[in-house]
Amino acid sequence: MAYTVIARRWRPKKFEDVIGQPHIVTTIKNSIRSGRIGHAYLFTGPRGVGKTSLARIFAKAVNCVHGPTPDPCDRCEICLSINNGNFVDVNEIDAASTRKIDDIRELRELVKYMPFKARYKVYILDEAHMLTGEAKDAFLKTLEEPPGHNIFILATTEPQKIPPTIMSRCQRFDFRRIPQSEIIGKLRRICEEEEISYEESAFYYIAEEADGSLRDAESLLDKVIAFSDGRITEKDVIRVLGLVEKRVLYELCSSIAKEDVISGLKLIQECVERGYEVTRIYRGLVNTLRNILFVKLFGGIPDFLSLEKEEIEQIEAITKDMEYYEIQNMLNYLLSKEDLFRGTFPRITLEVLYINLCNLTKLRRITKVGALALEEKITEEKDKRGEITREFLLNYIKGKVPLLAKALESQEIEIDKGRITILYDDTLKIFLSDPSFPLQIKNLIREAKGEEVEVELKEKKELKKDLLEEYIQEAERIFNTREDT
Ligand SMILES: Nc1ncnc2c1ncn2[C@@H]1O[C@H](COP(=O)(O)OP(=O)(O)O)[C@@H](O)[C@H]1O
Ligand SMILES: [Mg+2]
Ligand SMILES: [Zn+2]
Repeated sequence: MAYTVIARRWRPKKFEDVIGQPHIVTTIKNSIRSGRIGHAYLFTGPRGVGKTSLARIFAKAVNCVHGPTPDPCDRCEICLSINNGNFVDVNEIDAASTRKIDDIRELRELVKYMPFKARYKVYILDEAHMLTGEAKDAFLKTLEEPPGHNIFILATTEPQKIPPTIMSRCQRFDFRRIPQSEIIGKLRRICEEEEISYEESAFYYIAEEADGSLRDAESLLDKVIAFSDGRITEKDVIRVLGLVEKRVLYELCSSIAKEDVISGLKLIQECVERGYEVTRIYRGLVNTLRNILFVKLFGGIPDFLSLEKEEIEQIEAITKDMEYYEIQNMLNYLLSKEDLFRGTFPRITLEVLYINLCNLTKLRRITKVGALALEEKITEEKDKRGEITREFLLNYIKGKVPLLAKALESQEIEIDKGRITILYDDTLKIFLSDPSFPLQIKNLIREAKGEEVEVELKEKKELKKDLLEEYIQEAERIFNTREDT
């Protein structure tokens, strides 16, 4: 017997078999149960998510010998022939190949007749957006006619191309991508029922590659089964799908985090030599960064991601001193360059992008160091801007004019806002012979604090002899050292 592909063998036959579209299934079942059957439906959504399958189940539900029922029997003559695709009153029309106006004219004739056997004639118009202008008009006329016994189900992956005139006559259902976890569950069920042994991790790769399309996932499973030797392994899947192992992708990301551009480039080189397509590496990197970003952002695995436990550890190691927005920046950057891979030099493109990613981390580190330095500088500035104290004054002056500092040490200094009063004794007299002395002090303070102060001098009568001596000694010491050098 000829082999039928999994996607066909496993086409859902009852509403309950349809996975990932609970909102649609519930609404349709309820409308059938309550006898509110519409006459034109629009099923939109990506490919391989159950549009055609649900349209057929719908046809059975309204036409089953025991119906209309939300629970078609799947055993009566009508149900069975709808399953086989040869029931006279259910017409599947592929708009992609039925675009000529003549075919639509034929359809317009057809809809006039009563169903042969069923309650309703059901027209499933696949790829409805492919109808050409004239065919669209003719079809619209059909929709405008009194509905009676006809039900139209339009299916399309591109609803934006359906004219509003048609759209407005249909009840619209938006099919969504099937969540990864549900795809994995379905693959597991298929293998169990078909008694194929498997390595669970193999399904992760298939599901990721299928990107929400169950049909694609099932076709990929077919491919892997054909290749594998009785047991489906992660390794086989990677080989068959030409995927880059997660280990390699995490290593690439880890090298970025460590700014280890050389190891990363070597790894890319190895991958290319082993025959990986460059765009695969690129896509793998984008996917991995996305996973990393979400784990960082959510602080764990969000339920829409299927990741294995070890991946979390790897991600944590990579991101331990990264902020989520840094990863977001990298992802942004990578995504913005997608077009380049269609060019002549995909490999060099990847290498350059990779180097730039490493530079992004480097930049981050430099910025961090820069920020620290800036902080230090700010604290320093604050110090500078602090109050003028005697201690500060003398320390500062010591760095500039040591002798003056020494002379000032013995003076009484009163510091008030905007005014410094020096009660001087003989020790300072040597400086006072210079009439610009108060101005010098003024300038020093301006330089140190950026503040204007008045400097006032008041003579103190009492002379401290020992201090004068000390001062003279210090002066000699300073002049002697100068001479020595
Ligand atoms: N929601 C779903 N639930 C169960 N199986 C599905 C679903 N979507 C797709 N499939 C599988 O993929 C095959 C093709 O699905 P189909 O209904 O033709 O998708 P579409 O019309 O959206 O492209 C089905 O035969 C079935 O094996
Ligand atoms: Mg389809
Ligand atoms: Zn039936």
